[in-house]
Amino acid sequence: MNTDIGIIGGGPGGYVCAIRAAQLGLEVTVIEEAALGGTCLNWGCIPTKALFSATKLLSQTAEAQEIGLSFSQPQIDLQRLTEWKGSVVTTLVGGIKTLLEKNGVNVIRARGQIAGDGRISLSTGDEVTAKNIVIATGSDTVQIPPFPFDHPAIWSSDDALDLPDIPNRLAIIGGGVIGLELATIYNRLGSEVVVIELLPEILSTVDLDRRVVSTLKRSLTSKGVTILTNTAADSFEQAEDGVILRTKNGEEHAVDRILVAVGRRPNTRNLGLETCNVETDNRGFICVDDAFQTSAPHVYAIGDAVLGPMLAHKASSDGVRVAEGIALGQTHAVNYDLIPQAIFTDPEIASVGLSEAKVKASGRNILVGRFPFAALGKALGMREPDGFFQVVADAEDHRILGVQIIGADASDLISEAAIAVHGNLTLEAIADAIHPHPTLPEGLKEAAENALGRAIHTVNR
Ligand code: NAI
Repeated sequence: MNTDIGIIGGGPGGYVCAIRAAQLGLEVTVIEEAALGGTCLNWGCIPTKALFSATKLLSQTAEAQEIGLSFSQPQIDLQRLTEWKGSVVTTLVGGIKTLLEKNGVNVIRARGQIAGDGRISLSTGDEVTAKNIVIATGSDTVQIPPFPFDHPAIWSSDDALDLPDIPNRLAIIGGGVIGLELATIYNRLGSEVVVIELLPEILSTVDLDRRVVSTLKRSLTSKGVTILTNTAADSFEQAEDGVILRTKNGEEHAVDRILVAVGRRPNTRNLGLETCNVETDNRGFICVDDAFQTSAPHVYAIGDAVLGPMLAHKASSDGVRVAEGIALGQTHAVNYDLIPQAIFTDPEIASVGLSEAKVKASGRNILVGRFPFAALGKALGMREPDGFFQVVADAEDHRILGVQIIGADASDLISEAAIAVHGNLTLEAIADAIHPHPTLPEGLKEAAENALGRAIHTVNR
């Protein structure tokens, strides 16, 4: 079979690249060995968000007595909850299948491997001849040898999202994004959660200010999550009741399950990269230029397979750029600082642009404004007083350089800031735009006003 673009991988990088390329008139073939939608839809973002919202409801009903609403003790029907989560995934995966069909994209269910210039061999025994190849194979979970995923007490994030049971005691190795999102979910489901983090701080792979991280730590701790930093998980042994996890500094934790969330690595092994001299770095990330072109002509790589934030929306953005690059010859470098990130913890965290610490380290003069959720009428009415908005801007021209939000719906609130950072907008652009009252985005406006020394609902210092 001949095609203009052969895309290996049908996740948020691959399927978006396919649709955009098809819109631009190219003949496109997507090769996917598992499920369309990739990790994000099937084992990542979407099932996590379904469980995040379901468990939020659970914790809200448990606390509703404080505002005069009482319910009988909520019962968790794990099978029903799992089915519902599955139905959300199925709906979205079905939608992608339809979109690919309607755009005339050819989808092949097989494992694809590059077999030399312009050739992709399929596990079905067939071969695709492609003028351009896009590697969009994503990433998979890092394993650590003392904690093998084939042991029933050891969970990967995929296992945890399958909801096989609710452990009474859950240890999570890794205080990164996945570890803390699942700590939030299992804490709400009633597990006693301990997070074991090697480094001196949690979330250290994300460019967040100390104040944001300490707010999250305070909140998780107040909800009963134990966070141990500077602690390396070492080994475990079977106990009569569950397992004993040992740390390198000699602590023992008796738990029922151990979830390992110590990072993800690019899925670039056994892809036949050597057959056309596609170079990788020492961690397996495919080396690409600004146009996502690899060291081999007409071979591109996007998403988690290349260095950069391992985020679905970044992979989709890469996919659009590659499609437009191939079809229209347009290339523009990606500024990774413009890619927002949303972390689904309690409270949520979202950020875009640079942290205050990073801007300060560059020696720039800055203005910083903050505004607490506790001063927003809408947040108090929602019983969500925790957290704050923070805006960092250049002191000379007032251009917004970074925004961090910790608090309710931060994941939705960050988009206004993303437009501001992307569009080189100033503090005044947000401060002078009338925001509807009472709403949460008023917090961003007040933070921008605070940076200018003219917030109304907080004391300006
Ligand atoms: P991560 O890199 O965010 O965190 C892994 C953590 O494990 C690090 O803090 C590391 O110091 C720690 N660690 C490593 N070995 C350890 C050991 N032996 N004992 C104790 N701690 C140890 O990786 P994570 O959470 O697995 O996420 C993978 C990728 O997926 C990240 O790039 C993340 O940003 C992305 N992701 C993003 C999401 C979001 O934006 N909402 C959701 C899920 C994943």
